[in-house]
Amino acid sequence: MEEGLKYLNDLTWAYRASRTLQCACLLKLFTRLSVRPMTAEQLSAQCGSPLQKLEKLLIACCAIGLLNKHDALYENSALSDKYLVEGRPQYQGNIVMHAANVWNVWTGLPFQLVDNPSETAGSEHENFILGMHNLTMAGRGDFFLQSVNLSGRKRLLDVGGGPGTYSIFACKRYPVLQSTLFDIPETIAIARSVIEKEGMLDRISLRSADWDVNDFGSGFDVVLMSNVLHGPNSNAPGKLRKAYNCMEPGGLLAVQEFMLNDDKTGPTIPALFSIMVGAYSRPELFAAIEQAGFENVRIAAQDDSIGSTWITALK
Ligand SMILES: C[S@@+](CC[C@H](N)C(=O)[O-])C[C@H]1O[C@@H](n2cnc3c(N)ncnc32)[C@H](O)[C@@H]1O
Repeated sequence: MEEGLKYLNDLTWAYRASRTLQCACLLKLFTRLSVRPMTAEQLSAQCGSPLQKLEKLLIACCAIGLLNKHDALYENSALSDKYLVEGRPQYQGNIVMHAANVWNVWTGLPFQLVDNPSETAGSEHENFILGMHNLTMAGRGDFFLQSVNLSGRKRLLDVGGGPGTYSIFACKRYPVLQSTLFDIPETIAIARSVIEKEGMLDRISLRSADWDVNDFGSGFDVVLMSNVLHGPNSNAPGKLRKAYNCMEPGGLLAVQEFMLNDDKTGPTIPALFSIMVGAYSRPELFAAIEQAGFENVRIAAQDDSIGSTWITALK
């Protein structure tokens, strides 16, 4: 990623890492772990925090260098052992909690600058969908084309295709390819204007539908699922089964995800994303894809600096 863009990306994600540190200090995780390494279950019992949520926080703490994990046991890193254990001479926990205490000042800052920040910021859904467009235009689209070979493919289904930017990249690169973008009506309206601006409405058709209700159609030889399989609460098995059923034999599945590593200790962006939405580890995601019937599941490319992993598989 270009240096300026990487800097902006880091700034965009930074508050999530800060909040992770603050919550870990709030729960006195580092002081508790200075007594002995513990499992997520033991820490959950000590802190009185729900296990599932706490485990996500622990994964993020590993990813940002505050904890280490050996088998199922979490322990302090050298950094947190030195600075984040109560009673140590260079303890920093109070200043971290002070930052947490003034968090609301920063939450309120937009309201001090304009009367109605949400009106100024524009539609939440538009920012979400066009945000995907921003990311894909500034590097992820090229990364997709470098990672996934669509030579010889003719009919692509872009499930939850958002603004349609991946379909645009694919159809521009592969002149015989036609794409169908499957998304909810609110998003399709945004995609239509993005695709129209790119002059690609003759190659990309739009289907307003709901992946929980509608089937995916038939006769596709590629299915693209970019950032739509976000962990156990995303109904990934249901979507993957529909993807399998809509494809011709030999069809290619291309999945982009925020994917955790095998021992769930990072990378940072998937670990932070997992706190908010959810993320599978590599073995979990591979198993879900295989259980839907796909074969030859493999990592086609991975870029931890943006939290992107491309996985391909065949029907
Ligand atoms: C994180 S965005 C990914 C967009 C695009 N694939 C990308 O990577 O740039 C998730 C997309 O899923 C769509 N989506 C959410 N719920 C849906 C549903 N029930 N049926 C179809 N699409 C849905 C959203 O509208 C959004 O476009």
